[in-house]
Amino acid sequence: MTTRILVSHTDAGAQKRWERALRAALPATFDIVDTPDPEVRHLVTWTPADDLFNALPALQTCFSAAAGVDHLIDNPSLPPALPVYRLLDAGMAEQMVRYCRHEVERRLMRKAVYEDQQQQAQWIEHAARAPAELSVGVFGFGVLGKAVATALAEEGYQVAAFRRQPQDETLALDGGRSIDVFGGPDRWAAFLQRCEVLILLAPLTPATEHIIDAQALADLPAGAALVNVGRGGLIDTDALLAALASGQVSSASLDVFEHEPLPADHPLWHAPGVRLTPHVSALTLVEPAARQVAEGILAFEAGQPVPGRVERSAGY
Ligand code: GLV
Repeated sequence: MTTRILVSHTDAGAQKRWERALRAALPATFDIVDTPDPEVRHLVTWTPADDLFNALPALQTCFSAAAGVDHLIDNPSLPPALPVYRLLDAGMAEQMVRYCRHEVERRLMRKAVYEDQQQQAQWIEHAARAPAELSVGVFGFGVLGKAVATALAEEGYQVAAFRRQPQDETLALDGGRSIDVFGGPDRWAAFLQRCEVLILLAPLTPATEHIIDAQALADLPAGAALVNVGRGGLIDTDALLAALASGQVSSASLDVFEHEPLPADHPLWHAPGVRLTPHVSALTLVEPAARQVAEGILAFEAGQPVPGRVERSAGY
């Protein structure tokens, strides 16, 4: 008697890699398939077809092949009580830390200022700064947000983080460093006011959609830098374009967009201060991700708790 797992991925190459990696990570009593059938107990998926779940009456769990679940949670056929799990780190945290650290270091080293000066053949030296003089905020304090905030705090930056639960806290780290956690909507403006660099790493939910609007951008210190590695829909793009044009936001490093791929005629490609990458800040590494999913499936089948369960009502 085998336990059937369906892999349903929109990318053909990733589909094959997931199938291979799951086979390698699970005993032969698990049967990995690529087409829906009524025996399937577990699903591993990235952007499933709208009606996929209708063809899976025996389904017990659904694993997202990514950290985010916004591509999945709105699926019209997803049964309301089906447990959904997402990837927790699976090799993504290290990549995300590297991407964000690079952006913060650019700010510390005034790279954008010197690049502009080069365009004008200007030789002007600016004072050097230590990380302790640069205040960085991280919005989204889950697995990836905590990894980024911790790495930056350990390098000596002044780090704040924002989370939903209404409670401020100072999180002490080894080496005498700490993270100032701002908790709850009442602390949102105070959090923004201290972010010379604001890193967005929150999930996209009805509560976070366009949370970075004209008011939020106005609350940032003048000339702040924005780094979006969460989801494009966190930002009201028109408000960002206006803030970039006025200089209220001096730079925006964007890895994620409301519509991906970003259309070729989109104003963000050429807006002042924008540097963009095509959703590559933390790619899913299939092997570690498949190991995490395999462990989850084995735990589920053994009646053990499975890490990474999505709180469906909160949307992440
Ligand atoms: C990528 O964006 C992910 O959600 O893993």
